[in-house]
Amino acid sequence: MTEASPPPILPIEFKAVSKQYRLGFWLSKKVQALKSLDLRVEQGQIFGLLGPNGAGKSTTIKILMNLVQASAGEVRLFGASPSDAKARRQVGYLPENPAPYDYLTGREFVTLGAQLAQFPAKEIKKRVDEVLDVVGMARTAGLQIRRYSKGMVQRVALAQALVGAPKLLVLDEPTSGLDPVGRRQMRDIILHERERGTTILFCTHIIPDIEALCDRVAVLVSGKLVQEGGVRELLTTKAPGVEIAIEGIGREALDALKVSPEAVHEIGGRLLVRVSGADSNALIGQIIAAGGRVTQLQQVRFSLEDLFMDVVNSAGYTASAGGEIVG
Ligand SMILES: Nc1ncnc2c1ncn2[C@@H]1O[C@H](COP(=O)(O)OP(=O)(O)OP(=O)(O)O)[C@@H](O)[C@H]1O
Ligand SMILES: [Mg+2]
Repeated sequence: MTEASPPPILPIEFKAVSKQYRLGFWLSKKVQALKSLDLRVEQGQIFGLLGPNGAGKSTTIKILMNLVQASAGEVRLFGASPSDAKARRQVGYLPENPAPYDYLTGREFVTLGAQLAQFPAKEIKKRVDEVLDVVGMARTAGLQIRRYSKGMVQRVALAQALVGAPKLLVLDEPTSGLDPVGRRQMRDIILHERERGTTILFCTHIIPDIEALCDRVAVLVSGKLVQEGGVRELLTTKAPGVEIAIEGIGREALDALKVSPEAVHEIGGRLLVRVSGADSNALIGQIIAAGGRVTQLQQVRFSLEDLFMDVVNSAGYTASAGGEIVG
């Protein structure tokens, strides 16, 4: 009889992880930045952490990178503690606000990253040139970092994260500070890394980046995980809606109909209404009966943005960002 093979080691695992920061002169105020967070990221996945400002995304990443200690719970990085040097050498990390030594040139900074990742010495120069080229910094790599723009700093910091050919990439707001070309390049780099088999955890509040890149997404609101799942499944659980352009009747006549649309806009003398797929036929019948004309009809796909707004609203999030102050 053959023994069952052991379960594969997960690149990232969080079990009931909480974090309280202490604030104030006497450290008497507490901010609950994470509440009993469970996360499992499997090998080869692109996993997105989505959430409004102050939701706890960077705290999650910093705990994983051993820059912040969890107050409770268990964190595993490749099955080891985040403080384990061997586990950490397998990770490339792009921090939220990269602040590289600004007296170094871009090339020197990336070379330092390769040395710290214990990349074979003979191959370092070739590897550094390769990643500088990938992030579009080959031409300006000889300049001191203090001469760089914000987007250029972001690019060399990404090169530094990539240079050790990591098994896991952890990116905190990777497209922040980048122009549209840079954002497209960042997406291409992430997809290219996935083809290499790299596992990627990144956090953002840019929903199209999640839709374009991620296999799975976890939504955090005020330190709590409020939704987690495959991006495709989350998007297909809700039926698509229908957008209808109407002419010949006014807003009052529309409001008097039995079926009420989810949204109505008046644009250029016509009404643009959005209704659920199930209600669309009934609404169209009533519009025609009321003397209106349907001049355009199209299916609108439910977006991750709709889902995000739904879960954020139902989690009771208000526009005042941040974790809960508990003391
Ligand atoms: N060093 C710290 N000391 C005290 N409180 C902190 C500290 N770092 C973060 N916090 C608090 O913890 C909460 C979560 O912050 P975090 O930086 O993890 O959020 P985030 O989701 O990354 O937000 P953003 O999208 O704005 O980057 C916030 O209320 C923040 O004020
Ligand atoms: Mg952050």
